[in-house]
Amino acid sequence: MIFSDVPGSMRLVKMGESGMRIIDLEHVCKKVGSAQEKTILSDVSLSVDSGAYIAVRGRSGSGKSTLLSIIGGMQQATSGRVHVCGESLESASEERRARFRLKNIGFVFQSFHLLGRLSAWENVAVPLVLSSRLKRGSIEARARQTLNDLGIGDLADARPSQLSGGQQQRVAIARSLIMEPNLLLADEPTGNLDEHSAAEVMTVLERARAVNGATLIIVTHDPMVATTADRVIDIVDGRVCPEGARE
Ligand SMILES: Nc1ncnc2c1ncn2[C@@H]1O[C@H](COP(=O)(O)OP(=O)(O)OP(=O)(O)O)[C@@H](O)[C@H]1O
Ligand SMILES: [Mg+2]
Repeated sequence: MIFSDVPGSMRLVKMGESGMRIIDLEHVCKKVGSAQEKTILSDVSLSVDSGAYIAVRGRSGSGKSTLLSIIGGMQQATSGRVHVCGESLESASEERRARFRLKNIGFVFQSFHLLGRLSAWENVAVPLVLSSRLKRGSIEARARQTLNDLGIGDLADARPSQLSGGQQQRVAIARSLIMEPNLLLADEPTGNLDEHSAAEVMTVLERARAVNGATLIIVTHDPMVATTADRVIDIVDGRVCPEGARE
């Protein structure tokens, strides 16, 4: 389980292998266009240790989402080496990358990406349904428990359209956590939320990291996130700036 089933408390269930390298990018470039005339990422090299909490900042259009999606195996780099969670992704097939994502990555999108026809718990269950041979009852129980852990167990049967932005984002986070991912990638998870909901969402993500030992990478414009992260990575025009690591 992601969190303890003891109400109101948490216990350590699974620790990340802290100190091990979980992300290694070397000279990654991403170009698009029929003649690859547009460069989105340029010579990005980046190493991240397992269990770290990293904030990624940069202006709109600087390449933050592209970087996250290359790390998460959703897009492929045009050149360079992409080594994540022990796998080389630069020449992996779409099928292999899909398996890699299911096994290792929890992705929280800025715009939630919930399926409108499914209830909250059914949305949360989607990765489990895709990946496991668990019976429907076990999958449902686990999805409902994960929503409970995030404080919205009473909304498990609601459709996304019946939920507030903060509640929808928590459903999306529950979906990203249900597979107990090694690596949690959150693309402006608080971008659409008011201050209170944003603070709640951040607490949930940081708790997932602490309890589950996950590595957390958050794209954000929120100065508070940058002050709580272990490292801040600034991207300017598709390049990673030299870092000022926090003490
Ligand atoms: N498939 C594509 N084809 C053409 N241009 C693209 C493609 N994907 C991204 N871009 C461009 O690459 C640049 C970086 O996009 P990206 O989405 O990574 O930026 P971002 O830093 O996440 O921006 P934002 O803060 O607005 O979300 C943008 O100029 C975008 O228009
Ligand atoms: Mg973006």
